[in-house]
Amino acid sequence: MTSPSYPLTVEQPYPRNQWWVAAYSGEVGRNLLARDILGERVLLYRTEAGEAVALSGICPHRAFPLDKGRLVGDHVQCGYHGFTYGADGGCVLVPSQTSVPQNSALRCYPVIERGDLVWIWTGQVELADLTLIPDVGAVGLGNPAWASEQHPVCEVAARYTLLIENLLDLSHVSFIHATTIPGGEKVAQIPVDVVETDRSLTVQRKGENLPLNPLLKMQFPQQRGPVHQHFDAEYIGPAMIRTGGAVFDAVSGHLLGINNFLHMITPTSPTTLRYFVITTRNFGLDNPALGQINLGMGTRIQPEDSAAITAIEQVFQSTVTLPREISARVDNGALKVRRRLEAQIRAEQVA
Ligand code: FES
Ligand SMILES: [Fe+2]
Repeated sequence: MTSPSYPLTVEQPYPRNQWWVAAYSGEVGRNLLARDILGERVLLYRTEAGEAVALSGICPHRAFPLDKGRLVGDHVQCGYHGFTYGADGGCVLVPSQTSVPQNSALRCYPVIERGDLVWIWTGQVELADLTLIPDVGAVGLGNPAWASEQHPVCEVAARYTLLIENLLDLSHVSFIHATTIPGGEKVAQIPVDVVETDRSLTVQRKGENLPLNPLLKMQFPQQRGPVHQHFDAEYIGPAMIRTGGAVFDAVSGHLLGINNFLHMITPTSPTTLRYFVITTRNFGLDNPALGQINLGMGTRIQPEDSAAITAIEQVFQSTVTLPREISARVDNGALKVRRRLEAQIRAEQVA
């Protein structure tokens, strides 16, 4: 069987000193929600004052899953023998005695809400740095000048790096999504540039003088002539990748609008992931049909990608010998991302 961190050449499969998306804000409320994140069971809920809380989700008494307990005010009461924990994780009550045992606190994870997402820090608490959260406003989240749609959360039986690599090599669009992404059949032929900054890496394709397809006609009803359209894949970090991009009038170069697909990826275990998608656009805000189109596209695209990477994960999980990996020029960006991710993981191991 292939190593759980393959294709990374480090032992630890994912960075821990990292903000990941635990849930959409709307999923966290006054009920107990359990989510596996980086192989840990996490319990999510909101205090009476509305603050999101993330605690370890297994009772240290006899390992009862705490989401099967109940909330008493801001406290979590285990459903088995009633041990009760505060929102900071501290054990406040053991019903059968007057004191609480030592080392009985639940782990309390730093959480913060940005762009209607609950971000969780899975590493050392003292290193939780808010400036490491992606600039969600820049990509249209929580920004009144943009419309956005949340797509259903899905669980995928594949390691998170497979989804990162899937998104960074959009030449697959011409094959996997040939019928689901309008104009997709041409994407593989557009030349690729890789643009790097210290915060992100973008695999950029600039389609030029593309004829208006039915989707573009709906998105930009005033547009008559051909367009330049960007098909970006921007690695903003392991937790977030942006695809899509800007559309320009081909004659004047005038920007018509930007349509983003934001992909939030959270490893649930070394070989499984949770996948959140949000679409954002800064045009046609008065036309909800465009949001419905984005949602509909997501509904068709997501299973196509999930099926592809699940099939690869099954190869990794089997006992067959893998062929020696080859890469094409188009994989340049994805390979650089592997190196970034490995460097991030190595850095925290040294620290
Ligand atoms: S297992 Fe939770 S109180 Fe016993
Ligand atoms: Fe895809």
